[in-house]
Amino acid sequence: MRRKVTKAIFPVAGLGTRFLPATKSVPKEIMTLVDRPLVQYAIDEARAAGIKEFIFVTSRGKGALEDYFDHSPVLEQELRKKGKDDLLEVLKSTNMDSGAIAYIRQHKALGLGHAVWCARRLIADEPFAVILPDDVIAGEKPCLQQMVEAYAETGGNMVAAMEVAPEKTSSYGVLDVKEDMGSVVSVNGMVEKPKAEDAPSNLAVIGRYILSPSVLRNLNQLKQGAGGEIQLTDAIAADISSDVPVYGYRFEGERFDCGSKSGFLQATVAFALEREELRDDLMNYITTITQGRRAAE
Ligand code: UTP
Repeated sequence: MRRKVTKAIFPVAGLGTRFLPATKSVPKEIMTLVDRPLVQYAIDEARAAGIKEFIFVTSRGKGALEDYFDHSPVLEQELRKKGKDDLLEVLKSTNMDSGAIAYIRQHKALGLGHAVWCARRLIADEPFAVILPDDVIAGEKPCLQQMVEAYAETGGNMVAAMEVAPEKTSSYGVLDVKEDMGSVVSVNGMVEKPKAEDAPSNLAVIGRYILSPSVLRNLNQLKQGAGGEIQLTDAIAADISSDVPVYGYRFEGERFDCGSKSGFLQATVAFALEREELRDDLMNYITTITQGRRAAE
């Protein structure tokens, strides 16, 4: 029987330079969409997919992230005293079981592949998930849950995939598709950040993965790849030659690139419009300013 995926790695050791100066002191993953930090969306998605062990690969300056997952007895007591039960529930839903979270340091930002490799001893010899919290995916069924269900049929390695415009392929790992089976595609290989003319398809890898432990062994051997970083996609692609298949999974849902300012702002608006208490005010505001802009043009 195929082993269940119960461990997830959250690589959060990047420098977050696109959000400077904020990221001088605030980890990118703590920045909020409405009132929930990016990392909370990632944890909720992992829990929904059956993940029980949460491994964060962190770096210097990410202390706020560790604090976020601490229980807050003083705050809870205060809310209880004031009868703010709804807020108490919100707070409690973020509590993590003792021992469920582990933190590993990546001492140098050598790339995503290296960050995942740093967690190798905690993964040992079982399949595991990787979630990049700055890729936020809104959908009826959480993306990782969709993937876990598909993975139960396929095994191997699975990466979340999404169609992108040809001029955008240079921002992603891109799949070289072998067979297109609908939501699942099998792949011949993956190319990191190809120019439009070199891209083998327009199916891009998004920040959700279910990986075989053999990928960690491949990472042992890897040298720096595109951009001088140790690339996770290279280690996954290396599995194909040793007969561990790689699949792309076309997830259902809307993906926001919250590692970029524009994606982050779009996600903020989209998530705020989902909130009943904010929707009308925000819609009115957006209508007013867009009309004003048009009139001025
Ligand atoms: P990004 O490419 O978005 O890099 O990393 P970044 O440093 O976070 O942000 P910018 O580009 O400087 O603004 C994608 C994911 O990989 C993690 C990041 O934390 C993010 O979740 N990562 C990247 C690491 O954990 N370690 C690394 O060495 C590089």
